[in-house]
Parts: sequence; C-alpha cells; structure tokens
Amino acid sequence: MPKLTERPIWRALAAHWRARDAHLRKLFAADPQRGDKYTLEAAGWFLDYSKQRVDDETLRLLLLLAEEAGVAMRRDAMLRGEKINATEKRAVLHVALRAAKDQVIEVDGSDVVPGVYEVLERMAAFATRVREGDWKGHTGKRIRHVVNIGIGGSDLGPVMAYEALRAFSQRDLDIRFVSNVDGADFFEATRDIKPEETLFIVASKTFTTQETMANAHAARAWALAKLKDEAAVEKHFVAVSTNAEKVAEFGIDTANMFGFWDWVGGRYSMDSAIGLSTMLAIGPDNFRAMLDGFHAMDEHFRTAPFAQNMPVLMALIGLWNTNFLGAATQAVLPYANYLKRFPAYLQQLTMESNGKSVTLDGAQIDYDTSAVWWGEPGTNGQHSFYQLIHQGTRLIACDFIGFCDALSPLHEQHDLLMANLFAQSEALAFGKTAEQVRAEGTPEWLVPHRVFAGNRPSNTLLAQTLTPYSLGALVALYEHITFVQGAIWDIDSFDQWGVELGKQLAQKIAAEIAAADDAGLAHDSSTNALVRRYRANRGGRKT
Ligand code: F6P
Repeated sequence: MPKLTERPIWRALAAHWRARDAHLRKLFAADPQRGDKYTLEAAGWFLDYSKQRVDDETLRLLLLLAEEAGVAMRRDAMLRGEKINATEKRAVLHVALRAAKDQVIEVDGSDVVPGVYEVLERMAAFATRVREGDWKGHTGKRIRHVVNIGIGGSDLGPVMAYEALRAFSQRDLDIRFVSNVDGADFFEATRDIKPEETLFIVASKTFTTQETMANAHAARAWALAKLKDEAAVEKHFVAVSTNAEKVAEFGIDTANMFGFWDWVGGRYSMDSAIGLSTMLAIGPDNFRAMLDGFHAMDEHFRTAPFAQNMPVLMALIGLWNTNFLGAATQAVLPYANYLKRFPAYLQQLTMESNGKSVTLDGAQIDYDTSAVWWGEPGTNGQHSFYQLIHQGTRLIACDFIGFCDALSPLHEQHDLLMANLFAQSEALAFGKTAEQVRAEGTPEWLVPHRVFAGNRPSNTLLAQTLTPYSLGALVALYEHITFVQGAIWDIDSFDQWGVELGKQLAQKIAAEIAAADDAGLAHDSSTNALVRRYRANRGGRKT
C-alpha cells in the first residue's frame, strides 16, 4: 500500500482543506440545524461535534479514510485476539476484561474470559473482607489505609478512578497512591499512618519496574520496622502482577497475588486486577457497573456503523485537527472536579500509545502522529491557560466533558459550572469580531486586543451523572479513539520502546553515582559534568 500521505484519499482531504473557508460562524449560519445534526449518543454519552471545523464533505472523506485504512479489519483482528501488537508479538484484549460472562474470546486457542471472571471473583472476596473489617492486620487491627504502589498504567488509572468515584467510595477506608521514585512521595503518603492499619498493594505488571520496586522495598522496611515480624508481610502486602516468580521473590505469598495477562497493556489495565484499589474503594458491585460501562462502549464501537460510531468519529475529527488543521495539542477539559486526574490518565493512554514515528513495517513517518494531550478541570483552567486557547497563535483542539447532575448537594453551583462549559465552547467557536467590540463602545486602540478570532474547534461530551458506569464508558471511548488513530497512522499503538533508553541509562548512572569515585564516567561532557557535580554535592548520606 502507498504511504499514507501519498494515498488519493489523503490528498483529497488536503485539497478539501485548502479549498475551503470554513469559519464556524459561516458553517452555523449556513445550516441552522447544525447543532442538532452533528450529534451522537452512545453508552450513556452524548457528543456534540458541531463546533468542529467539518462539514458533510469533510466527514465523507474522513470516513472513507477510515474505510481504506482498514480500521474495521484491524478492530476485528483485535477483538479476535490476534497478535496486533506486532513488535511485542502480543494480543491486545483489554475488551476481554469487561466481556460478558458467556462471551468467548480466544488467545492461542484458549478462551480467556473464564480467567478474567475468576480473578474478579477473588478480588471481590478480598475487597469485601477488607471493606468489612474482616481482613485484619498482623496485630489484629482493622485496615484503615490502603497504599497502592505502582507507576504509569499501574498508578494513573487507579488514582484517576479513585478520584473520579470518590462519591461512591467507602469513606472510612483511606486510599493513597505512591508512584514517584522520589522518596518524598512515599514519605508523605505514610508519615501520618500506622503500619498495623495499612495494607500495601504492590501493582506492577512486570514486577521489575525500578520506581515501584524501590517504593515496595521502602514500604516493607517501614512496615517491618514497627511490626518487627516477617510474618506481617502476609497481612499487609498484596501484589497485582503478571509475574508470580518475582512476586514470590519479593516475599509476597502468591496466594495474595491477583494476576492478569500479557495481553493487557499497562495503560489499558485499570479494569484488570490493577483496579484492585478501585474495587476496595467503591466495592465489587460498583466495579462491575464500571466494567459494564466499558463493555457498553466496546459494543457500540464493535457494532455501530462508522458514521454513527462515537470513537471512530472522534478519532477521525481528532486526526483532521492534527494532520490537516495543524493543531499540535489536544486539551481535555472536564467540568467535573472529580475528573481532575483524567487528563493525566489520558496522557499515558494516548501519548504512550501513539507517540510513534515509524510505521508497523518500520518505515519512517512523514506526518504527525499523536497530539500532545493535556488539560485541567474547568473552571480552574479558565483562570490559567484559556487565554492562549482563545487568543494565542496556536490552534488547540478541546474536548469539554460535563454532567447534567451534580454529585455534590450544591446544585446552583453546578448550574454555574455548566454555564461556564457552554460559554467557553461558544466563545471558542464564534469569538467576537472587531465590529462587535466597537459596538460595545471600546476605544479604537483597544479593539484589536479585545477581538476573539473564534473558529477554535471543540467537542462537548455530556452524560447524566458521573457514575462508575459513565466513567467506564468514557475511558473505553478514549481507548478506542486511540486505537482508531493508531490504525490510520499505521503504527503499533501497544508497544512503548521509547521509554527504554532512559531506563537503561538511569540504571547505569545510578551505579556510577554509587561508585567509589567518578573516574569511570564515560558519557558526553554535559552528562559527565552533571553527574560529577551531583556526586560532589549530594546530601543523601546525611540523616
Ligand atoms: O513507562 C513504561 C511502562 O512500561 C508503562 O507502559 C507501564 O504502565 C509502566 O511502565 C509500569 O509498568 P509495570 O506495571 O510493569 O510496573
């Protein structure tokens, strides 16, 4: 197949873009129904994409692009358990984690769904014991604090879900997260709690990740310093991993290990056993409801025609913004404080997946792949970076996310929150012309400063309430958007070789820092000098 940028459909999209004058003011004026027409519902979510710079022809061409790129074929190959993660020779089956009990999904000829349910049942039994105070610590005390130790996919999903679903959590069970190898993270998470009331979840797919292992060892030393008995590990440590051997080596009984499989990517794992902290917080029934939300979006993605398929449409419009409109970044703006960690979660999902520059065949790519994803909850962002989105020189694509019902009792404030969401997407799309600014009596010298060009594209996603179900569907939506974009860009969205080099160098440098002298340093002159300066000045050995 010719290179993506040389295919007639890509050229047609480029020509279509160049030929058009598509200010959103004009598009809305030309079609009074536009705000109703470019909308869609799926798995409890309503999408308004009318404020995107697209028309029927753009959508027709984009849908053709998806068809010609073989998105449906690739999706079906993923769902059949084929090893579409080509560079790691692995299946990609996060959809199996939320499959219906009677579904059959095979990897290498064996059905993986029964194993998924077996782990879920073990997690539920364990979570219930901890939540009900039945699982006691070594000294017989009830567990009051749970500390999840993990990083990347073994942290970002769990912490995001915990924050998002706080309203559904058992409030007397305090859940904390430690991820950074910076000891300050562990120190602050444990300084005001007692080992006898604390349960550590060591969450690591590989159980070899430097940061997680360093924190797990710190946790063990912290707990045993007080409990003074190796046998205490059994009551205060559980593991979530695919690597039973390493778990046992660390000293955690594999009876206290909750497993998952190599066909679950780290950034696609929050609904596997990696979600144990989520289940401890919200309970097994709410966790099931979250899985059902994921599954509903999976089914929509699997069955809806592309023109009405929410992940496909959002992926295509995102690609249009990135590759044709030149939007280098994608802001995610949840108007829901509980979703404050959602942008950070999406950063790993999207950028670790699609931050690639070679095709599946290893050929160099000459088009942009993943946008830079970022964001903050509204309305906080409005008093920070929105200035640039409204009047800066760069085009920023925005996804607004909101809910009709508040989870707090402050309903009037919820109305204000939502008014702000609607106001922002309106202001971004339509802006304010010089004539409008003048008509307000603005002196001429100030007019240019008060003009808003508008034509800034955005999606608005609305659901009834932030619940485990709607959260699951939302996460699945972005998982599939990421998949569709990766399929069109012809990259492996499921490997992450780009994180390896830094890991290897850090290990080497850690050994050099610990060495007796710096004679053996053989990096470039900058790195050598930095390491020398650090070695000469580090205060680490002082207590
Ligand atoms: O940063 C690379 C990475 O491999 C992520 O993909 C993964 O989520 C994270 O490290 C943590 O890995 P593990 O769960 O094996 O500790």
